[in-house]
Amino acid sequence: MHKDLEEILISTPRLNTGIKKLGRRISADYAGRTLTLVGVLKGCVLFMADLVKNISVETRLDFMMLSSYSGTQSTGVVRTILDLKDSIEGRDVLIVEDIVDSGLTMKYLLRSLKTRSPRSVEICTLLDKPSCRKANVPIKYTGFTIPNKFVVGYGLDYNELYRNLPYIGVLKKDAVEGKKTCR
Ligand code: IMP
Ligand code: MG
Repeated sequence: MHKDLEEILISTPRLNTGIKKLGRRISADYAGRTLTLVGVLKGCVLFMADLVKNISVETRLDFMMLSSYSGTQSTGVVRTILDLKDSIEGRDVLIVEDIVDSGLTMKYLLRSLKTRSPRSVEICTLLDKPSCRKANVPIKYTGFTIPNKFVVGYGLDYNELYRNLPYIGVLKKDAVEGKKTCR
């Protein structure tokens, strides 16, 4: 385990099992259709790479980059930093996100995508942290529901570090400047 972590919350084997299950559900639900996965950079990268390998329907990939976070506190102000390359008009869109916390990022993204006339839009998140939810967003696919702890690894960062860890871990208090609290 990395020295800055106090515990491993979700091990690599548990991640693999959970993602396989998600892939099977998604493949069944979208059978016969072409899916457009919209990954939310940068946190989605490891999850999306593993998820897409477990999806058997025809799949396109596109990405957006949003910003709402600095350090461990969500500021609630969301901006689009990088937009989709292709139109999603008439397409079945599945948003792929690392974690839904306050829900403000997803609320913004859903609104933004729905104005572009997709056939459908659903949300797939690796992690759901429902204890600090501010905006009620409909999550169709959840990998794991987690307690109100600041987690890193498997794509999730703290000040851009730890994304490369192959598991999800909880940062030690002294590695975090200021405790994570719901605002
Ligand atoms: P929300 O808008 O509060 O739902 O926050 C969504 C974004 O905040 C996620 O896409 C993450 O980038 C980031 N985030 C929320 N909780 C955590 C965490 O525990 N660790 C790392 N990033 C987090
Ligand atoms: Mg993110």
